[in-house]
Amino acid sequence: MNIQPFTVTIDFAENVMRGADQHNVRRASAMRGYYKDAAALEKLIRDGNDPLHYETFEKHVPEEYGHLLFCISKIQPGVVGNEFFMTKGHYHTKAGTGEIYLCLQGAGYMAMKTAEGKFDAQRMERGSLVYVPPFWAHRSVNTGAEPLTMLAIWPADAGHNYGDIEKEGFPKRFVNRNGKCIIE
Ligand SMILES: [Fe+2]
Repeated sequence: MNIQPFTVTIDFAENVMRGADQHNVRRASAMRGYYKDAAALEKLIRDGNDPLHYETFEKHVPEEYGHLLFCISKIQPGVVGNEFFMTKGHYHTKAGTGEIYLCLQGAGYMAMKTAEGKFDAQRMERGSLVYVPPFWAHRSVNTGAEPLTMLAIWPADAGHNYGDIEKEGFPKRFVNRNGKCIIE
């Protein structure tokens, strides 16, 4: 589909996208089943009034071959038990499509895995550009004290497959041990 060119503004002070069409919010209660310490997550939902976990700001473009989707993804800092806040993680429905993540704020990791069980974690801080190759599921993890904010760009026809990660999980977790992030 042929559409008109357009511009959006990334606000580097607030680390948000101005003029986004869609603002998706995931609260702690959306993360049931993803953290090892389920009781700690329930406590956070209960005592923390189901706090904001991560959010995305997205612009609509046709979800078809040739177009590029992009979003600002922002993960709050924190832990569930001793496990750092993270996104659910996904493969792409069209598994053979990659993605680029540019870190704008904060610190953490891009955790990646393949269906064959390969695992990789790339460190992210402001200015890190992580290339997620085709076939690698990806999840971002905030190991810092401020929000971890990234710009992501991917083929618009890639789609999201959350179900396989919901079943498989990732082979490693990012935990806070005496103030240090350990990948175990
Ligand atoms: Fe993706």
